Amino acid sequence: MTLVESVLRVDPPLSAGRRALIVDDDALTLETLQSILAGAGFDAVCADDVQAGRDRLRSQPFDVVLTDLYLAGGSGYEIAAAARALQPRAPVVMLTGRPSFGAAAEALRSNVREIVVKPIDAQILVATCERAIRTAEMERRTRELETQNRVLTSVLPRLIEAKDPTTSGHSERVVQYVDRLAQRCGIEESDREMLRLAALLHDIGKIAVPQSILCKDGPLAAEERAVIMCHPQVGHDVLAGLEGCDPVRRWVLQHHERWDGRGYPNGLAGEEVDLPGRILILAEVYDALAEARSYKPAWPLLDIVEFFRNQAGKHFDPCLAMLVADGLEREGRAFFDADLDAFDAPGLN
Ligand SMILES: [Fe+2]
Repeated sequence: MTLVESVLRVDPPLSAGRRALIVDDDALTLETLQSILAGAGFDAVCADDVQAGRDRLRSQPFDVVLTDLYLAGGSGYEIAAAARALQPRAPVVMLTGRPSFGAAAEALRSNVREIVVKPIDAQILVATCERAIRTAEMERRTRELETQNRVLTSVLPRLIEAKDPTTSGHSERVVQYVDRLAQRCGIEESDREMLRLAALLHDIGKIAVPQSILCKDGPLAAEERAVIMCHPQVGHDVLAGLEGCDPVRRWVLQHHERWDGRGYPNGLAGEEVDLPGRILILAEVYDALAEARSYKPAWPLLDIVEFFRNQAGKHFDPCLAMLVADGLEREGRAFFDADLDAFDAPGLN
């Protein structure tokens, strides 16, 4: 869609085709409310007492429920309670001619999202119903995203570790290291957020590598190494559905590249990998050196410092490697612990 088309496009009103239940024991009010809502596009259904309202809630789905506060043989709170039990997705709008603080407080405790004061203004009523629906949908979408986020950030790293137990805790530690390095390099929070996600998921492609290769006790054969070397590409591919996260996929793909172009899978060199990607490359190796694995002890800190100095301009971005080597020498492992958000670090771009 072009910019002009998007500006000229008119979305159908939110109320079009939405189902509304109206519960009121006054026939004239019921008729008036139904007429207002139908005029705005709602498919409005009426009930004239609490029991009829409950029956409607049991028999068909609604997008919004309107109820008078005072009803013959009960109250709007009972309709609100029934709606919460039977149709928790439908927001409840309460109508009252006698507003009070006590009634408002009770309404909020009773699953009521909005209160409309009589006499009813048609525009306000329609706008209130639409706002209640929109807010309920946004809250539902937010809850869904939070659930998806929990899956992404907790289940997937566990999945990688289940496949490769030798790297327990690796992803979470790399998240911390990349974030500290990114802070020191003056990278903006939006990129840091993407980088943390890339760090968390960088080895997700290992799910395609047989455990017999990942956990092999001894040197790998050439064909086994070739299988392992596919994991950045597999990770890139399985994250294809992650909308708006192209940098995450790119950095996952690049996390075994090298500054001198001798890495994999694409042999990119120098700044062909952008700075956040180069940070991930370095942080990933730092963790591999600093932690004990089943096949090797943790490296002493000064050996790591020497390694980074030696690999500056070979495996790693030379500026980044020297920054880390000097920092580790100066501050020890605390170099990767300090939260520098309050610190105005010089940029490194
Ligand atoms: Fe990897």
